[in-house]
Order: sequence, then C-alpha cells, then structure tokens
Amino acid sequence: MKYLKKLTSLALWLMSCTCAWAQPVSIVPQPAHIEQQNGSLTLRADMTMAYSADCQPQAEYLRKAILGATAYNWSTAKKKSRADVVLEIDARRVTAAEGYNLTVDRRGITICAHDNGGLFYGIQTLLQLLPPAIHSKALQPDVTWQVPYVSISDAPNRPWRGMMLDVARYFFDKEFVKHYIDMMAMYKMNKLQFHLIDDSGWRLEIKKYPRLTEVGAWAGKDQNRLGGYYSQDDIREIIAYAAVRNVEIIPEIEFPAHMLSAVVAYPWLSCTGKQHEVPRQHFISRDLLCVGKESSYKFLADVLEETVNLFPSQYINIGGDEAVYDRWNECPLCREVMKREGIEKASDLQGYLTNVVANMMKAKGKSVVGWEEIIMRGEVSQPVVAVIWHEVADTIKARNTGHKAILSPATNLYLDFPESKTPGEIKAATWMPPISLEKCYSMPVNDYSSASTVLGVQGCFWSDQFIHGTILQELTPLNENRSENYAEYLSFPRLLAVAELGWCSNATRSWQSFKNRLSKQYARLDYKGCNYRVPEPEIVKITEVGDKVRFELAPSVEGATIRYTTDGSYPHSHSAVYTEPVTVERKTDFRAITEIDSRHYSLPLYFAPDFSAYKQYGNFVAEWKPVDLASGKGTWRFETTGTMVGNGTYDITFVRTRGAKSLALGKLVQYKREEVLASLPQSAAIGGDNAIVTYRLTQEAFEAGVPFYIEVETESKGGATDTYGYVFVKKID
Ligand code: ACM
Ligand code: ZN
Repeated sequence: MKYLKKLTSLALWLMSCTCAWAQPVSIVPQPAHIEQQNGSLTLRADMTMAYSADCQPQAEYLRKAILGATAYNWSTAKKKSRADVVLEIDARRVTAAEGYNLTVDRRGITICAHDNGGLFYGIQTLLQLLPPAIHSKALQPDVTWQVPYVSISDAPNRPWRGMMLDVARYFFDKEFVKHYIDMMAMYKMNKLQFHLIDDSGWRLEIKKYPRLTEVGAWAGKDQNRLGGYYSQDDIREIIAYAAVRNVEIIPEIEFPAHMLSAVVAYPWLSCTGKQHEVPRQHFISRDLLCVGKESSYKFLADVLEETVNLFPSQYINIGGDEAVYDRWNECPLCREVMKREGIEKASDLQGYLTNVVANMMKAKGKSVVGWEEIIMRGEVSQPVVAVIWHEVADTIKARNTGHKAILSPATNLYLDFPESKTPGEIKAATWMPPISLEKCYSMPVNDYSSASTVLGVQGCFWSDQFIHGTILQELTPLNENRSENYAEYLSFPRLLAVAELGWCSNATRSWQSFKNRLSKQYARLDYKGCNYRVPEPEIVKITEVGDKVRFELAPSVEGATIRYTTDGSYPHSHSAVYTEPVTVERKTDFRAITEIDSRHYSLPLYFAPDFSAYKQYGNFVAEWKPVDLASGKGTWRFETTGTMVGNGTYDITFVRTRGAKSLALGKLVQYKREEVLASLPQSAAIGGDNAIVTYRLTQEAFEAGVPFYIEVETESKGGATDTYGYVFVKKID
C-alpha cells in the first residue's frame, strides 16, 4: 500500500512536471547557447522592473511591448533585489558586442547585456519565448503568459546584418519604413541601407537645394503627380525609432549614376545640362554627375554636409552602381579632368570621385560604403566598404586593396525576386532565376573574425517592380493592389533567413532546424500585422509505388491545414484535408496547399513538366494551352525576361505537344516593355507532321530589370483551339 502511494505521488509529480514544461524553446535567429529547464514563469500584472538610467530606452520599449497584449503595466521597483524583471548593461560580464544573457527562473527575468543593442536583443528573445499573441498591440484576454525557464547566452557572429530598402522607385511612407525597421529589429538585424535616391525620385529634403524634393520627388504633374519625400523632421523621427531598436540608418546618396531625379531638378549637374523629366517607368539613365564642373563638387559637399548633420550613422553610403561612362567620355570638361589627373579610362574617373568624397567624409569622421563598383573603377586610397552584389569571389578584390565588404549577392539575397516559378507566383523581378527561401538561407558565408574582410550580409529590397504607377498583379492572398503588401509578401519570410545568416555562426545554422523554427514564426508575423508569402506544404517524401506516386507531406506553418486535389486542379477551401500519405497516378496530378484560414493560403505544390525530351531546343520559356489562344486569328504573348539574358542571337522554337487541331504561326514581334525591338515575318503551320517552328532572333538592347516579351500571330486551324505546346529558347552566339 505504501509502495502504491509512493507510485501515485511519483505519477502526480511527473504529471505536474509535464504540465509545467512549456513548449521547447524556438527562436529566430537561433541563439548561440540555450539551456531550457523544467517549468515556466507566468507573467502577472503586478510585476516590477529594475534598471539603471542607461537602460531606460529599452526598458520603456519592454514595458510598452508587454502592455499592449496583456494590459499589464509594470511599475518600476524600488529595489533591484525585489524586482521581478532586471535589465542591466555590464560589458565586463557580457563581453561580445550586441550580446546578452537572459535568465528566466522562478525568481523572475534577468537580462544582462554588453550594450543597449544587446539589451534590446535580450528583450526580443524574451518576447519570442512568450506566446505569439504577445506581439499584438490589442489586448489578448484569454492567454496565459508563460515563459519557459531558460538560460540563454547569445551574441551575433557578424557585425553587419543589413537590409537595403529602395524608397526611391516607390516612396514607402514614414510609417511603413518604421514598420519595416521594427520587423528587421525583431529578428536582430542592425543596418538599414536607406536607398533615398534614384533616377525615379529624390526622397530626402535638402534645405540648400529645395528643388530636389519640390521637383525631383515627383513623377507627373499637379494632382496626378506620384511620389513623395521625407522632411528632415521625418528623418529624425525614423532615426530615433530605429535607434531604440539598434538599427543604424545609413543614408544612400547615389552618384554618379542613378540620380536623374537630381538632374531633373538641377540640369547643370549633368555633363549635357539637358532638361529631363522624372521617369514614370523603370529606367536607368545614362546621365551622370559631371566630374568636370566645380559646381558638382560643391553640390556633393553641400548635400553630404546636410546628410551627415542629419544622420548620426558611422557610415554614409555613396551608391556608385551601374554607371555607363559615355557621357564622361564625350564631355570636354570631364576629359580635362582625365588629362589633368593622368586617367586613361573614363570609368576610372569614378575612382577619382570616390576618393574626393571619401576624403570629405574622413574629415567628418565618417566611413564610406557603396556598391561594389566603388572599388572596381580606378584606385581608391581611403579604406571603404563595398556591397558586393555580383560575385561573392570579388571580396578578394576588396581584401587585396585594403577595403572591407558586405555580401549582398543578387543571386541569393535580392528579395525583389520571386521565390518560385509556380504559375500564379507574384510578378516580380525576372532578370535572374527565382530565389527560394532555401537558396537565400543556404548562401555560403565564412564565420566572422576581426581579421575578416567580410563584415556581414545584407538583403536588398528593390522597388523598381512597382515604381509609382505600376498596376500590380492582384494576388488572391492579398486581395488588394497595395505596394506595401507586395513588399512584405516578397520580403517575408526570406528576411528571417537573411537575419539568421547574419546572426548565426556556421555551426549554429541549420536549414532543417530553421524550417522547424520558422513554422512557428508565421503566427508572430500575423500578430505584428506583417504580410508574408505562405509557404507550400513541406514534402517529406515522394515514393514510386508500382506505376503510382505516393506523397508524404508535413505542414510548413504550425497549426495550418493542408488541402489537396488529385486531378491537377487548384485546391481550395473545400478540397480534401490531408491527414495521411496520398497516392496518385501521375505526379503532376497532385496539388496541395497550406491553408492558414479561408483568405490566407499558399500557392499549390507544383511539379513542372519534364522537358528532358526537348533538350536540343534549349531552355523552356512558355507554354500554350487552348485557353491562351484566340479561336481563329489572334496573337499570343509571353515573357522572355530572365530567359533571354544578354545580347546575342537566339533560336526560339515552338513545339506542339498534343491536341486535335493544328496552329499557324505568323509574324513574331519582340518587345522591350511596349517598345518594338524586332519583327520577324514567318508563317508555318504547326500541327500534324509539322509540329516544330523555329524563329532566329538577334537581341540587341538587353537591359537587366526590364521586361521583355514576344508576341506571335496565331491562327487556330478549323476555328477551335485544341492545341498545346511549349516554347524553348537557345542562345546561338
Ligand atoms: C544594383 O543592383 N544595381 C546594386
Ligand atoms: Zn562632364
């Protein structure tokens, strides 16, 4: 009997442990060291906080973060020893910059940090230990605010964990910029390259040059004008908001190219002095800041003076990308500078200009950062930081010339590219292949040490895909044409991958672990009011069973439902719910979606047809189906952006694959946006014995980031349109 009693109490004790054992800790980015203990602390309204004066901004942040969802208004403790929550900065106890130690036990919560940044990050980790509803600004009355007992010690591996936000092509207002900063900070990112200037808009108020924003910030005229700018007061507000969150706002003042908006305001800035207009479509101007006029240097000095006075950042970004040097070559004043300085190539004038500005900035105690071109056009004697956006291997050039580098390769970290080629995927940049979440996460980067050339990583969010006036694709999960939603859809969840790439050492980073932890973050994004791309269900395994295929799936969003079809149709909110592996006849018949709620679901899992039988025709570009074609005569248009990359000669081959009718193909026209580039007359029946037609086309005006189309005349023989086929493209030279 005694034995039985003992056993019962043991069972009860075990049960109490299981109940008190909160969920396993799941944080993004993954902390360096976590020890989870048995049990959890439940937050209460009467808790008190203790902190010294230097912790005040972050203490206020925490108080407010807790208040919204819980309505607990924590007071300040009279004595540290009596406080439930202790915040302190002690650089001797926590030695790594931006590092923190967080302890949660039965006595309460302690965050001890190296600096204010580390303290903010300790608070972010604490918030992620709480239920997702903690991120709500509105009261969440039915939640028990449990925090597991843990002890976490954490610090970033890399000092530079950045995002570039392009507010020049599309003007995101102050509130959106703050929201974007808040999201970056939640995931411990610390640098915002604020792309304030481009051909399509000047967004920063400069008091000495009022026309920059009176004229250069606007495309179009009067009430129909589009654009906007930040007043210097707006900028101060953004900087203060970011400072509490440990985000350094680095202004990017673009020159010598990508500054047509300034040239529109002050035509004397360019070599030709010609009057232009602020463009309403994506456009990279060939006009450069003239390096032969004294007024150009005065302009730069004045603009940078106001910029430096406004932005407390250590770094000033001077842009510098994508200049073409014809104007400098043709300009007598620029040629005089070349002669005077013994410069042979016009492109090396960029290095000359970079040196002038780097010296100006050094005199003001600032460091210069810019796109990789700033270290690749002539010699630059001051050490600068280059944002490498093409080849990661080019960091070697930075090292050999005494500079530092940030990795921001377009192939992995440009978040304005879509994640997939799935039909229905968001319309976004196409000058390179899509960038999946895994491709973004898995970018190779060495661990940081103080001797490293590479300071860290940076994601880039360009907005030239929705420059002012662009009609955006309406996506079902968005149901509205808002650029801000578009920007979030493209940025999230990949921004979390960039954040972890920056924060974690290679030993701590794991794709499998990231996917598991990410599945729990979507609810947090929802409470933060942040849109995101809902991920497709995860494929655990695909097995061939005889002549059938068996799919085993798992949710990629915690708590979401998977719905599927087996007839190739698009699943919807009444489709079958996935509960166990599904076997189908053909792989392409199976489609499955992640459904978070009836308005919030993913694209379906998509298995592209197998093109291996058509290898000799090159790369797949487009597919036609009966619904794409007019019955009788018509035209069919498809996009070649990203598949005909670069100038050269291409074979464009139409291959009919099935259908009862034949198709005649006529004139083929190539467009760059709406401009006709080439027109090839050809007429051939495609169908029956003659199922393949090839056109040879020479592309001469390729430009990255600009949409290219092909339109072909079609005639469905016999009136009906029962014809299916593919188009392939092969580069000949
Ligand atoms: C860039 O993508 N032009 C830096
Ligand atoms: Zn010039």
